Amino acid sequence: MDKMWAGRFEKALNKEADDFNSSIHFDSRMYKQDITGSMVHAMMLSRQGIISKSEYKEILNGLSGILEDIESGKLQIDMEAEDIHMFVESELTKRIGDTGKKLHTARSRNDQVALDIRLYMLQECEAIGGQILSLIEVIKDKAEEYKDAIMPGYTHLQRAQPISFAHHILSYAFMLKRDYERISDALKRMMSQSPIGSCALAGTTYNTDRVFEAERLGFSGISLNSIDGVSDRDFCLELMSDFSILMMHLSRFSEEIILWSSWEFKFIELDDSYTTGSSIMPQKKNPDMAELVRGKTGRVYGDLMALLTTLKGLPLAYNKDMQEDKEAIFDAVDTVKMCLGVFTPMIATMTVLKDNMYKAAGKGFINATDLADYLVKKGMPFRTAYKHVGEIVAYCIKENLVLETLPIEKYKEFDASFQEDLYNEISLETCVEKRISAGGTGPESVKAQIEYLTEFLNEKDIH
Ligand code: ARG
Repeated sequence: MDKMWAGRFEKALNKEADDFNSSIHFDSRMYKQDITGSMVHAMMLSRQGIISKSEYKEILNGLSGILEDIESGKLQIDMEAEDIHMFVESELTKRIGDTGKKLHTARSRNDQVALDIRLYMLQECEAIGGQILSLIEVIKDKAEEYKDAIMPGYTHLQRAQPISFAHHILSYAFMLKRDYERISDALKRMMSQSPIGSCALAGTTYNTDRVFEAERLGFSGISLNSIDGVSDRDFCLELMSDFSILMMHLSRFSEEIILWSSWEFKFIELDDSYTTGSSIMPQKKNPDMAELVRGKTGRVYGDLMALLTTLKGLPLAYNKDMQEDKEAIFDAVDTVKMCLGVFTPMIATMTVLKDNMYKAAGKGFINATDLADYLVKKGMPFRTAYKHVGEIVAYCIKENLVLETLPIEKYKEFDASFQEDLYNEISLETCVEKRISAGGTGPESVKAQIEYLTEFLNEKDIH
């Protein structure tokens, strides 16, 4: 009885430790990168005379077959394997025999995994880059579609000055452009340091050609220190920082979408296909997608923090702790892709309720600065004009009037220089049109912004 129990216990324990140690459940998604790296590695070994040409051919055929069979579903990745690197190698040996055992010459899983993650991130970040460009395009199209819409611009979430709706949303396009560029920069740096050939940590005694391997794999250079080569996960941290900033932008945009679709604002109406109902309140139309994007932002920050924390106390070179990098970066990649995947069509399909925005802009004395500027143009120092207008606003609030409805006689009591033309100067349209400074909300600037973004997208060849 005892023996049986002990046997079962020991077996169960081993299995748990094995499961604990293994990464196949999450790193299997890098099968393509792993196989590609191995193909190039075998090619280098044969060019350098470390393996023969025919051995290379055998290995290459074996690896191509594995890739093909995984992609067609014929070969299931064995979840009992320790990781994707071990799986591919043992499957290769199963298929081609002892020659398969030569593949791992002058290589280690330490440099192999450092390579695979880079190639994986390159592929995923290129996809994310494309998604960012699509969102920029959608924003630009919305700005063009509603270029005459006027809304209140806010500071402290208090109505501040009238702005064009196009100007407001284009600000997000510029944030996203920076996100795109930040990711591209990080990728360039990442792809300038091929780690493969660093081996376990110290390099190898074989006459390898790391530069050849790097070039074949799309790198512009190699890591010049093998210890750094296998220990470096800076590129993961850099990309996750970039993702975090991107998510912060999406989250701020989401917050505005949520506010704008509330009855309190009613500046936009989200399409039914990107909103949900309530199980109890029949009137509800909830902006769940925007709320989830806002919510998932914290998750991406968490992924970045998790990896920073994992790495902070590690001695050189490779430590098993580093296996934890993958779940964090995969989760961040998946989350960013998923969020962009719903956010972009949600923005593309939303309706802008121009009249409501305009009405809201008519309240809250948001043309008070323009009234002060009117006096300044008549020769009054700004600070004096500011004080006069403050008094006029206080008077209007008391009398339940707005600047547009205060009679000219009353204006003249505050200052003799007021004339009938002030009403034109403080109309919402004038307030927006006269903001002619570069990058301001005036129509010329908005047009210039749209042109600039169009050119940027054309350069990136998104059409
Ligand atoms: N599965 C491992 C990881 O993801 C691969 C590298 C293993 N290296 C080692 N020396 N055990 O980090």
